[in-house]
Amino acid sequence: MLYALARPFLFALDPETAHHVALQFSAVAGCLSRRPPPCPVKAMGLEFPNPVGLAAGLDKHAEHVDSLGSMGFGFLELGGVTPRPQPGNPRPRLFRIPQAKAIINRYGLNSVGVDAFVANLRKTRTIIGVNIGKNKDTPNDKAADDYETCLEKLYPHADYVTLNISSPNTAGLRDLQEATQLAALLSRIRTKREQLRDKHGRNVAIALKIAPDLDDAQIREIAAIARREKIDGIVATNTTVSRDAVMQYPFGREQGGLSGAPLRERSTHVLKVLSRELQGEIPLIGVGGIMSGADAAEKLDAGASLVQIYSGLIYRGPGLVSECVSACLAKSRTASSASR
Ligand SMILES: Cc1cc2nc3c(=O)[nH]c(=O)nc-3n(C[C@H](O)[C@H](O)[C@H](O)COP(=O)(O)O)c2cc1C
Repeated sequence: MLYALARPFLFALDPETAHHVALQFSAVAGCLSRRPPPCPVKAMGLEFPNPVGLAAGLDKHAEHVDSLGSMGFGFLELGGVTPRPQPGNPRPRLFRIPQAKAIINRYGLNSVGVDAFVANLRKTRTIIGVNIGKNKDTPNDKAADDYETCLEKLYPHADYVTLNISSPNTAGLRDLQEATQLAALLSRIRTKREQLRDKHGRNVAIALKIAPDLDDAQIREIAAIARREKIDGIVATNTTVSRDAVMQYPFGREQGGLSGAPLRERSTHVLKVLSRELQGEIPLIGVGGIMSGADAAEKLDAGASLVQIYSGLIYRGPGLVSECVSACLAKSRTASSASR
């Protein structure tokens, strides 16, 4: 209700300014939003109070953990963060396409760098995932060094870490999804995680975030490598480079990654392929185009254990969190009564 009143004001601002204004008011929104019912889920060795999380990219610098935590999310994925600070692409780099309930962004992993990120990250009771990437000027054959640096610095502070190899806004990043490069990266991360686990005496789950613009054979290949390298979760998906659904609208041909309603079907397809291939061996996190509780339930139907939202929050406001949790709860009740 409050968001319905605030939205015309926010949408009158340039999208990046609106983003900052909305985050400043997120503490108020958190206090006023309806508490979602409990809907506990175990996945990746963690116990989530509910399966609805915040997707990466909304709180890139870990500056709003408390207020976002108060919105009822079961977990927050913060970042993406890179080892060294970098400014990202020049503005404008964020575009709304309200006719399609979509967003195009080409932020280019703007980051305060992992040290400042860690300093911002306060102790919180919310489950925290951190999305990590490589610096723009790090060549792909050195990318593993960047992921290792971030993992090492974040290890004492995060519950899980997501390897972002799928942002379309860092040239060459998505090539890390290719089988040989991916196997080499995940093997390095596996060794590093084992060392860190021994050093800190706790396990931090590692997830992999993939693009929607992969064919079924590529998705199956990634699943097999992730299984072999003991990845704990796969996040499907990042934004798409496809413009088929939005070309006709203002800003529809802007460069970057498209998110929101037009991404839903494609992301869900990726989930289904992963789910068929992995048969529950690796938990899946469904993200892409969740604009309603029914969309969240659809991701669970497709094989996700957890879901995340970003664009839906911009178009629907914080009330979407409760709506999604309630839909997931209703789904799990129907499933458990059917199995009795
Ligand atoms: C402005 C913006 C910034 C994003 N930044 C990141 C990021 O840093 N790392 C990442 O893995 N995904 C990032 N994403 C992708 C989202 O986490 C999510 O995968 C995608 O938007 C699809 O979900 P949605 O349709 O609910 O928005 C970003 C998305 C948007 C809109």
